Amino acid sequence: MKKIAVTGGLGYIGSHTVVELQNEGFEVVIIDDLSNSEIAVLAGIEKITGKKPAFETIDVCDTEKLRACFKKHSHIDAVIHFAAYKAVGESVAKALEYYRNNVCGLISLLTVMREFECANIVFSSSCTVYGQPDVLPVTELSPIKKAESPYGSTKQMSEDIITDTVAAEKSLSAILLRYFNPIGAHPSALIGELPKGVPNNLLPYITQTAAGLRTELHVFGNDYNTPDGSCIRDYIYVLDLAQAHVVALQRMLGSKESGSLEIFNIGTGKGLSVLEILHEFMQANGVNVPYKIVGRRAGDIEQIWAETTRANEVLGWRAHTPLNEVLQSAWKWEQKLRG
Ligand code: WQD
Repeated sequence: MKKIAVTGGLGYIGSHTVVELQNEGFEVVIIDDLSNSEIAVLAGIEKITGKKPAFETIDVCDTEKLRACFKKHSHIDAVIHFAAYKAVGESVAKALEYYRNNVCGLISLLTVMREFECANIVFSSSCTVYGQPDVLPVTELSPIKKAESPYGSTKQMSEDIITDTVAAEKSLSAILLRYFNPIGAHPSALIGELPKGVPNNLLPYITQTAAGLRTELHVFGNDYNTPDGSCIRDYIYVLDLAQAHVVALQRMLGSKESGSLEIFNIGTGKGLSVLEILHEFMQANGVNVPYKIVGRRAGDIEQIWAETTRANEVLGWRAHTPLNEVLQSAWKWEQKLRG
């Protein structure tokens, strides 16, 4: 049985990926410092799959502890690296924290992987590496423009670090998955998004407003150059996204060649504005979400959505869950949280 380390494995995307990995028969070691996740998620994963993954409370920046973890759980065949801070707006105010955590954490991980001859990494990258594209939809060959936020910069730097390390080390293989906007929750409502404090991201803010925890949603700007003036994003179901990681891992582990690097856009290929997804949510769940148009948020780009041919035809993966089911899963999870 192949053993996979999942950093950030108790987080939103990480936990859904752990479920899918276990469903596919992988043995999983979760490495998570609980800075943006909760230990209760471990029980949620076990309830869904019937298998409790190994768990180590480790900050990936702590190379010594990471080393001890790789030694204890030897031999780790691959790593899926999620552990990173990921709020675009927040990163503008906390730039240094973002660079330390996201970039130093990756360097620490790659160093330990090399020491333990762990030769495969699937990296959680982001569409924010494209900045504001000049041409839409974005392909994997679209220009990497200056990132609009420190978060986006950390993802660009991380991609460069991995690319150069693959070229230097020859033994390391990597797949970079550039996600768009992950939303929704596991259909069991046993795991889902757990934002700490006031949500940075759109969907949890919508569900908390629908649940009455927030007075109204603030729509950050309707004066963009889009059909209804609000920003456009490619919203992808978190479980479809999790499955993309399993497919990418199987592709890498099944390959005879080492030293390969591949990049895939993981999106639906469809753009939706803030106002469109807000109305889709209300319609899918029969709830009202009060909202107000306010000023733009620093760090936001205007519009982006994915060209997904490579993911569909080369990786062999496609987003497939209908939007209304995704939005219903988000609402079911919020209601479960409110007990
Ligand atoms: C989406 C849109 C906001 C909150 C995310 C992740 C990032 C990366 C890219 C994976 C924007 C608007 C939001 C609110 C709003 N994904 N909004 N009111 O900024 O696209 O970044 O996707 O790596 O990790 O954070 O997502 O959900 O914050 O914003 O109007 O209360 O919703 O302006 O246009 P974003 P988001």
